[in-house]
Amino acid sequence: MNISEEFIAELKEKNDIEEIISDYVPLTRKGKNLMGICPFHAERTPSFCVYPANGSFYCFGCGAGGDVITFLRLIEHYDYIETVKFLAERAGMNFEVSEEEDESHKKKLLIYKINREAARFYHNCLFAPEGEEALGYLKKRGISLKTIKHFGLGYSPKSRFALINHLSKKGYNNEDVVLANLAFKTRNLKEKDRFCNRLMFPIIDVRGNVIAFGARTMGGDIPKYINTSDTPVFKKSNNLFALNFAKNSGMESFILTEGYMDVVSLNQAGFQNAVAGLGTALTQNQVKLISRYTDSVLVTYDSDEAGQKAAAKAITMLKDSGINVKVITIPKGKDPDEFLRTQGKDGAVRFKNLIEKSENDTEYRLSKAKKMYDSGSDEDKINYLTNAARILSSCQNPIEREVYVTRLSLEMGINKSALIMQIEKFMKQNLKKHKKQEFKNLEKITSALNDKINPEKKENLRAAVAEESLISYIINNVDKASDIFLRVNADDIITNFNRRVFECVKSIIAEGKTPDITSISAKGDFNFEEIGRITKIICSYNSQLVNQKTAYEYINIIFDENKKIKVKNVNELSEIKVKEYIETLKSDKK
Ligand code: CTP
Ligand code: MN
Repeated sequence: MNISEEFIAELKEKNDIEEIISDYVPLTRKGKNLMGICPFHAERTPSFCVYPANGSFYCFGCGAGGDVITFLRLIEHYDYIETVKFLAERAGMNFEVSEEEDESHKKKLLIYKINREAARFYHNCLFAPEGEEALGYLKKRGISLKTIKHFGLGYSPKSRFALINHLSKKGYNNEDVVLANLAFKTRNLKEKDRFCNRLMFPIIDVRGNVIAFGARTMGGDIPKYINTSDTPVFKKSNNLFALNFAKNSGMESFILTEGYMDVVSLNQAGFQNAVAGLGTALTQNQVKLISRYTDSVLVTYDSDEAGQKAAAKAITMLKDSGINVKVITIPKGKDPDEFLRTQGKDGAVRFKNLIEKSENDTEYRLSKAKKMYDSGSDEDKINYLTNAARILSSCQNPIEREVYVTRLSLEMGINKSALIMQIEKFMKQNLKKHKKQEFKNLEKITSALNDKINPEKKENLRAAVAEESLISYIINNVDKASDIFLRVNADDIITNFNRRVFECVKSIIAEGKTPDITSISAKGDFNFEEIGRITKIICSYNSQLVNQKTAYEYINIIFDENKKIKVKNVNELSEIKVKEYIETLKSDKK
C-alpha cells in the first residue's frame, strides 16, 4: 500500500516520539536526548535512548531501534497499516484504509472474523444436544453458566468436519480456515477440523479480537490440551490468557497462574485480575506485556516440582523487569482451581486470605531454603545461613534486608555482623557478574565479532566502519549526497548489508525524498533488527567527527580496501593456477 511521504511526515510531526514512548517507558532527559529502561529486553540500568531531533530511538543493550512507527510495531505487534491507522486517529488525521489496499492486513482481518465465527459456533455447540457431556463436565467442575458465557467457553463436536462445514456454509474458504489453524489438510488434501470433542477456551487479545483457542480433552486423551499454533494473528509467546479481563479489572496487581482453568475459576470467584501463559514457560515478551498494565504480580504456580521450577524462573524474570513479586502458596499441593472448588462458597474469602498471607519473593525463597535444611545439624545450619545470605544479597531494598537479617540472627542465634559480612560478599560478586554481563551485551552489539546483521563486518572491519560513517554522513548531509554519489558507487561498498543500505538511501534521494529511518524502513526490505542497526548508524553520526574532509577520507579507505581485495583475489587465483599446473605436470608424468 502506498501512503504518501507527506502524509507520513505529517503523521510523525503530530505524534511526538517522546510523548508516545513515554506512555510505555519512563524517560529521563540526558542533554538533547532521553534515556530509559528498554521495553524490549530485561535490564536494570538504562540503555534505551530516544533522539527527539530525528524522531528515532535506539537501545544500546539489545539493538532495537527505529522511528515511532517501528516502536509501535515492536511494542504493540501492530502491522504497518495498523500503526499508521493508530497514529492517524491519535492525531485526528483522516486515514481511510480500504481493505483491498493491503493484502496481509486483509488476511489478518479475515482470520479475526473466522476465529470469532468459530468461537460463536463452539459456544453454541456447548448448548446443543451434542454438547451435553461437555456442559455436564463444566458443571461438575463448578463452572457457572455466567462464567461460561463470560469466557465464551465452547465445545468442538466429534465430527471431523463440523467447523469446516459450518464456516464453508458461511462463505469462508477452507484455505483460510487452515490459515487460522482451525483446520488442517490431510494427506489426501481434504481439510479436517483441528479441534474435535474438546472443551474450547477462546483466547482474546486486549483489543477484543479472538486470536486463538486452547482445547482440553474431557477424557484421558494425550495431550490434555492442544492450542492454536502460531498464525498471522497469534504468537503464543506474545500473549496471555484473559489479559482482556485483567487489564480492565481495576485491581492493583495481576495474579499469574499456570492454567486456563485456574483463571476461569479465579474469575468466577471475583479475581478478574488472573492471567495465564499459553502452554509455554513465561516469556520475556509476556513479562513486558504484564509490566505495561501493572508493576505488581502475585505468582501462584502448581506445587509440583515442574511448577516450582517454572515459578522460580518466572519470579526472576518478573523481578528483573522491575515488577514486585509475591508468591501465593496453596496448601496441600493444589492448583488455584482445585483449591477454590474444594472450598466451595468460602473459596473466594479463603483465597483472599492466601493472598494476604502471600510472601514477597525473599520471604518465599527463605522459607524454601529453611525447609531444605531443617535437620538442626551444624552443617545444615551453615548451609541454611549461607543460602539465606545469598538470597538476601539479591534483595535491593536495604530496609527489607535489615528486617530479615535481624530476624535471621535472632532465629538462628548468631551474630548479625557475620551475616551482614557474608551478604556483602555475595553482593559484590553479584555486582561483578552483573557488570560483566552488561559489558558482554554491550560488546556483542558494538563489536563486529558475531555480527549477525552484517556478518562480513568482522572480515572487513576497516571498510565496514568507513561505509557506515559515509552512510551516516550522506543521510545527515543530504545536500552533499550528489557529490558523494559522483565519487562512490554502490558496487564499491564491500559489505553486503551496508551496500543494501547505501542503495536504498541513494534511490530515496534519487526520488527527491528525504532519507531518514522512516523512509528507509518504508522503502527498503529490512527486518526489525536491520532497522535497529540503521538507526544506530544514523544516530551515532557526529558532525565534528564526520565532515566533508573525513567523508573523503572514508571514501579513500573504501577504495583502498577494494584494492586489497582485488590483490587477494589475484593471489588466490594464481594459487589455483599453480595447483592446476602441478596437477597437469603430474598427469603428464603418467
Ligand atoms: N498445557 C498445554 N498443553 C498440555 C498441557 C498443559 O498447553 N499438553 C497448558 C495449558 O495452558 C494448561 C496449563 O498448561 O492450562 C497447565 O497445565 P495443567 O496443570 O496440566 O492443567 P490445568 O490447567 O490444571 O487443567 P485442568 O485443571 O483442567 O487439569
Ligand atoms: Mn487444574
